[in-house]
Amino acid sequence: MKAVILAGGTGTRLMPLTKLLNKHLLPVGRLPMICYSINSLQKAGITDILLITSRASAGMFTSFLGSGVEYGVSLTYRIQEEAGGIAQALELARSYVGEDAKFIVLLGDNLFEESLAPHLEAFMLQPEGAMVLLKQVPDPERYGVPVFDEDGRIIHIDEKPKQPLTDSCVTGIYMFDGEVFHFIAAQTPSLRGELEITDVNNVYASMGKLAHRYITGWWTDAGTFQSLLEASIKFSEDDGP
Ligand code: DAU
Repeated sequence: MKAVILAGGTGTRLMPLTKLLNKHLLPVGRLPMICYSINSLQKAGITDILLITSRASAGMFTSFLGSGVEYGVSLTYRIQEEAGGIAQALELARSYVGEDAKFIVLLGDNLFEESLAPHLEAFMLQPEGAMVLLKQVPDPERYGVPVFDEDGRIIHIDEKPKQPLTDSCVTGIYMFDGEVFHFIAAQTPSLRGELEITDVNNVYASMGKLAHRYITGWWTDAGTFQSLLEASIKFSEDDGP
């Protein structure tokens, strides 16, 4: 299976740290943030990785990571010219993954300690559709929040709802089949001008094709000063996953 890591965006919530340095190159413990996504994939047996980042940051990523040989992976790079949303960035992966293949997407600011392997195995057994990994959190209003039917299936995801209906959030770990690229192509920008990954996942949900599993180990979205600090403390003594 191939993987896509999204490492673009503007990192607004971490300004001024991100004024010169891409969020995913900021230090977390002893390593730049991007290393944790790569290590998680490599340990789960995924070595073909597409890294998507901004034009301004691409040179720093290639200088630091090169071909990926030191990390036991093979890296390919694509540039997202403008930060037009997670789904817009993902569209750039179309020719890399192909339209028939299943693949995994990691948002590069998602840090976690548990293995991806069991989740990947479950997704491979799923005949079609997508899978999202959920996490119970104290502050679901910061994230995409799933709404379930009586059978426990996700019927909808609310993006950053003011009054979340559950204490679960959708993490930035997604698994898709090739149909995702058709769904992205049909999207229009949201009110904030972005192509939203939640809108894409909601197409799968409306078709009854959005599976989910829970992350039980530690997880954070290191997009704020508090969560970045928490991640640094968590990974201060080891190299993470
Ligand atoms: O972390 C999980 C959350 O990630 C989900 O619960 C939300 O449903 C999902 O929308 C997303 O929310 P965020 O507000 O945290 O997304 P953010 O704009 O911070 O971007 C997340 C990652 O995607 C970050 O690693 C940068 C990358 N990105 C983002 C944008 C907007 C890109 O590569 N390109 C982009 O244009």
